[in-house]
Amino acid sequence: MQIVALTGSHNRQAFDSGRQELDEWLHRVARQHQDKGLSKIFVAINESAPDQIYGYYALTLSELDSHYLPETRRKKLQRRIPGVRLGRLAVHKNYQVNRLGELLLVDAMTRARRIFTEAGGIGLFVDAIDEHAAGYYRRFGFETAPDNPLLLFLPVNS
Ligand SMILES: CC(C)(COP(=O)(O)OP(=O)(O)OC[C@H]1O[C@@H](n2cnc3c(N)ncnc32)[C@H](O)[C@@H]1OP(=O)(O)O)[C@@H](O)C(=O)NCCC(=O)NCCS
Repeated sequence: MQIVALTGSHNRQAFDSGRQELDEWLHRVARQHQDKGLSKIFVAINESAPDQIYGYYALTLSELDSHYLPETRRKKLQRRIPGVRLGRLAVHKNYQVNRLGELLLVDAMTRARRIFTEAGGIGLFVDAIDEHAAGYYRRFGFETAPDNPLLLFLPVNS
């Protein structure tokens, strides 16, 4: 499995994670977002069928109000803190629960770390689609914002 930037050669329409909002975003919005520079989308592909998308995620530069950070992490930080937002994460329903989600997450962290080395930033922010998804992120060390259970933060040391 390889994780590469989304291009026009990938078959977005065939992607089906079982979550309509995540699928439709990839089908209809992702390319426009990428072309306009609003976010960058990465897809998991297999060399044997390189146009097929097994999973995807989106990254955007972001600022977060520090009051959304867990109290222990908030101390001595300015109000607006820089980071990277993991906008969306989804795996095709035929390939779920095979650690592909984990592979995508690790790839996102690696890319975020690279950005932080060059431009600063303290971690990954994610808006979980529901409490179930928030539970998935917590498995990887994401911490829940004090007053928003669907906003999570993962510190990434550059
Ligand atoms: C959530 C998702 C990205 C996880 O990717 P995946 O490749 O299926 O998951 P992984 O193989 O990396 O991890 C599997 C483990 O996570 C658990 N898990 C999977 N989805 C979970 C969820 N929503 N909540 C809690 N745990 C979850 C599995 O039970 C499994 O546990 P185990 O290791 O004890 O067997 C994928 O299932 C998906 O795309 N779901 C639909 C879209 C969605 O809900 N996205 C959430 C992001 S907003």
